[in-house]
Amino acid sequence: MAPLWSVYVLLTALVLLQNFKAHADDDKPLGSPFVQRAVREAIELVDKAYKETRVSQKQQLSKRSLKPSDLLRFFKHPVATTRVAVRSAEYMENTLRLIQQHVHRVHKRSLNATDLLTAADLDTIARVTGCLAIRQPPICKDDCFTDRYRTFTSVCNNRRKPRLGSSHTPFTRWLPPHYEDGFSLPLGWTPGRQVSRFPLPLVRDVSNKILRTRNEDVVNDLEVTHLFMQWGQWIDHDMSLSPHSGSIQTFNDGIDCERTCVQRNPCFPIRIPRGDTRIKNQRICLPFIRSAPACGSGELGSLFGDVNTRQQMNVLTSFIDVNEVYGSTDCLANKLRNLTNELGLLAVNEEFSDNGREYLPFNTISSNLCGRMGESCFTNENSTPCFIAGDVRVNEQLGVLTFHTVFLREHNRLARELKKMNPHWSGDTTYQEARKILGAFQQIINHRDYVPLVIGDEATMKYLSPYEGYDESIDPGIANVVATAAFRFGHLSIQPKLFRVDENYQEHPQFKSLDLHQAFFTPWRLIKEGGVDPLMRGLLGRPAKLQRQDKMLPDELREKLFELTAHLGMDLGSLNMQRSRDHGLPGYNAWRRFCGLSAPRNQGQLSSILRNRDLARRLIDLYRTPENIDVWLGAISEPFEAGGRVGPLLACLIGQQFKNLRDGDRFWWENDGVFSGSQRQALQKISMSRIICDNTRIEFLPRNAFKFRQYPQGYVHCSDIPKVDLSAWREDAQVTPCGSVPVVKHAHFSICKSSVRYTCESRFELVGGDTITCLSNGQWNQEPPGCVDPQSTGHHNIRIKVIQGGKGGCVPKGPNGKCIQSASQNDVEKVQLNEKNVKIKNAILSGKTSNG
Ligand code: HEM
Repeated sequence: MAPLWSVYVLLTALVLLQNFKAHADDDKPLGSPFVQRAVREAIELVDKAYKETRVSQKQQLSKRSLKPSDLLRFFKHPVATTRVAVRSAEYMENTLRLIQQHVHRVHKRSLNATDLLTAADLDTIARVTGCLAIRQPPICKDDCFTDRYRTFTSVCNNRRKPRLGSSHTPFTRWLPPHYEDGFSLPLGWTPGRQVSRFPLPLVRDVSNKILRTRNEDVVNDLEVTHLFMQWGQWIDHDMSLSPHSGSIQTFNDGIDCERTCVQRNPCFPIRIPRGDTRIKNQRICLPFIRSAPACGSGELGSLFGDVNTRQQMNVLTSFIDVNEVYGSTDCLANKLRNLTNELGLLAVNEEFSDNGREYLPFNTISSNLCGRMGESCFTNENSTPCFIAGDVRVNEQLGVLTFHTVFLREHNRLARELKKMNPHWSGDTTYQEARKILGAFQQIINHRDYVPLVIGDEATMKYLSPYEGYDESIDPGIANVVATAAFRFGHLSIQPKLFRVDENYQEHPQFKSLDLHQAFFTPWRLIKEGGVDPLMRGLLGRPAKLQRQDKMLPDELREKLFELTAHLGMDLGSLNMQRSRDHGLPGYNAWRRFCGLSAPRNQGQLSSILRNRDLARRLIDLYRTPENIDVWLGAISEPFEAGGRVGPLLACLIGQQFKNLRDGDRFWWENDGVFSGSQRQALQKISMSRIICDNTRIEFLPRNAFKFRQYPQGYVHCSDIPKVDLSAWREDAQVTPCGSVPVVKHAHFSICKSSVRYTCESRFELVGGDTITCLSNGQWNQEPPGCVDPQSTGHHNIRIKVIQGGKGGCVPKGPNGKCIQSASQNDVEKVQLNEKNVKIKNAILSGKTSNG
């Protein structure tokens, strides 16, 4: 008998064929066979570019030495679920581009595009490319057990608009984007093209003339620690990651973006100005790959009168939920867990420990990314493992890796404590409860201790006045301007060194402080050079860099970003500005107006806003008008607000974002019903210093880990730092009015309101309904289930099997594929939709639908 799926494909093909014929008979300029051809061609183009990129990526990663751009690409390159989402968007974008090209070629006049593409055509394109599945709202369940924890993707946090704030959705726009062609091409794409009556300067020219700072000229910020900087990056990795296109070559003609100054999607190389501070050859460029578009955005703009401009995708959940520890997809989340027992732990490194304390597990993908030959000497000569965590940037530099390690330990510490108090909890309940507590810690430390130091007193009062409850109408998504410009303010607080100090907060005698470029992608240093403590002490005991209008970005970041070898280092300042043009961010003045601030019209007015005539003059020399100043640059140039580390524009943008993340989060720690009153009270004792005390061997530290104190003034012993009392999490196994929860042998249970859900220990299988509910008459609605040993009863396992992912990959592939790691309903639905699309796609590619 033919397998079910082939019958399905045949039926789908017939339906599509009918559809196409009907359109062809209409005799319209663009009938569906035309659309179909465009889709087929686009799929072929994208698949070819992806395949070639993959081959070249593999070759690069196995090379002896890596270029800085290889390293950036490593964490920007879409993989797993991100790749599925990005690929769909690129199929769609390229289909529409081909259609557009055809329209221009054939009709040579401007046409009302709605006459050319019917709604059905668009629907077909969206369906076949996979975009429809990605954009369809999932169904949110509302049973007590499912809805009690955040989903990993954060879908259904907002129950009315379930995708708000979830991973793999477009960034939120607070202002419409500003593209050169109105819908897709970055500003500055065409050399000499005017914006607000003036051409934009090259970003590298701006970087040279405004940002340049010698490492030794950096000024210390004696108010805040270097850990203040590190927390900023940590929280950013909880909020946003915009992936590159899945191709590193042009779709049309296969030109490698890394070796060209040609500007064609997705290549948007950074050109070198005359008289550059470092690069003398103007014919080379710093590579830059455009961020991937989100489904259904971009090229459609010209067809539908600029209603659909290019959007970029956030790989992460927007919410402050510690997704950098747990992952933003079900697949990754499961991969990071220790599922071999019922302790609710995260998986840890099996080969190495930090004097008995845990390290993150290694990523199973082997590459030379995380250390040069000879410097990495773990498993064997050819293997230089990277760590794996919930965020792909974990290995980017040793400071962020230190945070990842400490937060992994904190999860496991919480899980062990909780399990001790509640031995009846399953591994899953223990894991979820520890995850929920860690999420609350992150929110409290961020909003109570960190954000006010960033935005200052006035903005804190304005945006973070006392919590008034969850508001479903607030969009909690990360704004494109925040990810691409505003929150990158933290780049100005990075020291050119990563400090490593001993117990007395003196330079470590054995493991000296590192120039930052020596700390990029070198996780082996954590294991081989003293573990977490010297680095964490360095973050606590040394000040952050001070952002000053005349000392902006040190050479470590402007000339040596990701430079491990002699290759061309990247420039973080240029990347930030090129990225904001890539994302179509409007200029400085548009954002000043958005925030209700004055918009300077000339150099004089800019001087008074910046309180700096020289800087205003240099900016106007480059941009000619304040309108055009790249928003990141304009915003970081403003003098600080009182009590803060940013100026008024950033205080507004960052303040608004954190307000939305608080008030638009149904699982916000203060929201009614998320924690009990006694739990809420206990949680407030948390501090970053406490987390460090509990998970390192550090004994003395500043009480407030963000505020710089010269050791030993203001340093306290860990015993003086308050602890969170977890006794409020002890669960009484009673349900009113039924009394004690019935004990089932070999089962764990958890209680939600008046219901009890049982799960069996591994090896045992559940017989009967898993949930019992206590009725108002004091009786249980049914008998509890049993846990039986299938070996002894001959009972067959009929549950979906959990199959481990392949080498590092983790794409949900469906019942016949290899990598369903969890059976969450959302994932199963997604898989089914994806399978459908793949089949339709295959039918189109093989030409079956058009040729019969
Ligand atoms: C040593 C420390 C750091 C390094 C090496 C670093 C490096 C980078 C790099 C290479 C990018 C990607 C640039 C691009 O191609 O668009 C980036 C993005 C970003 N960084 Fe940093 N960064 C550091 C610290 C920080 C800090 C302290 C903050 C904030 C307080 C921050 C906030 C951001 C944000 C918001 C993004 C955009 C993320 C996205 O949506 O893709 N970074 N950083």
